[in-house]
Amino acid sequence: MRAAVNGIDLAYDVEGPPGRPWVVLVHGFPFTRATWAAQAAALAQEYRVLTWDLRGLGESPLGPAPQPLESYVDDLLGLMDALGVARAGLVGLSMGGYLALRAVERAQPRFWALALCDTRSEPDSDEGKLGRAAGIRALHRDGVEPFVRGLLPKLLLRPEAPAGRALSEIMLRNGAAGMANALAAMQGRTDTTPSLAAIGIPSLVVVGSGDAITPPEVARSLAARIRGARLEVLEDAGHVSNLEAPAAFDAALGAFLRDAAPRS
Ligand code: MLT
Repeated sequence: MRAAVNGIDLAYDVEGPPGRPWVVLVHGFPFTRATWAAQAAALAQEYRVLTWDLRGLGESPLGPAPQPLESYVDDLLGLMDALGVARAGLVGLSMGGYLALRAVERAQPRFWALALCDTRSEPDSDEGKLGRAAGIRALHRDGVEPFVRGLLPKLLLRPEAPAGRALSEIMLRNGAAGMANALAAMQGRTDTTPSLAAIGIPSLVVVGSGDAITPPEVARSLAARIRGARLEVLEDAGHVSNLEAPAAFDAALGAFLRDAAPRS
């Protein structure tokens, strides 16, 4: 389905029975909503589940520049408005977590729970910013394929397993311009660490035990700064923990949302 939000026809899916509490799943970089397919199907037994392709990725076109991370957050809040989602449980993985943290900073009353998966609140270091710049240049110069080939082993412990092949296919369908824009958006994101103490909704931090991009110590410090946050370290999973340890991921997220969901 498509919704015109901020001048962009965002591609999205809604699953699950009308009238149930909403859950919004925000995907990472450079993925699409397809990476949430298993979680959306499982959660749709109990919730109304919204997934969408971030602008410039999957089936969502890239709007006119400039498009900082703030524009992606505008899309999240705008899509919720367009679909009549007053409040939702918010789940973000990696880049999706950066968006989720900023969305909660801007509009906490719109969310009844926050699940931060394989992500961090700190902005990029200078070294990280230079890495993004190199990635942007490489995407424009060499295209998507070498970039994805280099990234995949950092995302998963077992890149050659079926989940790795599926993730690679999803990433390869994205265009260089959308991927480069997302890199620039992440490069320019703000530090949401100072506002973690102001989070007053039930929160969960999930991390793969072998996450090389946002390691468990980052997740531990994130959880320690959010009042009452639950921490789940998933064994035998890398950065994209929902794909590499789906059963443990779904169990942790499902139990958390069940405890946090508004009773109707
Ligand atoms: C992601 O999975 O969204 C990215 O690894 C996040 C990042 O590059 O900072």
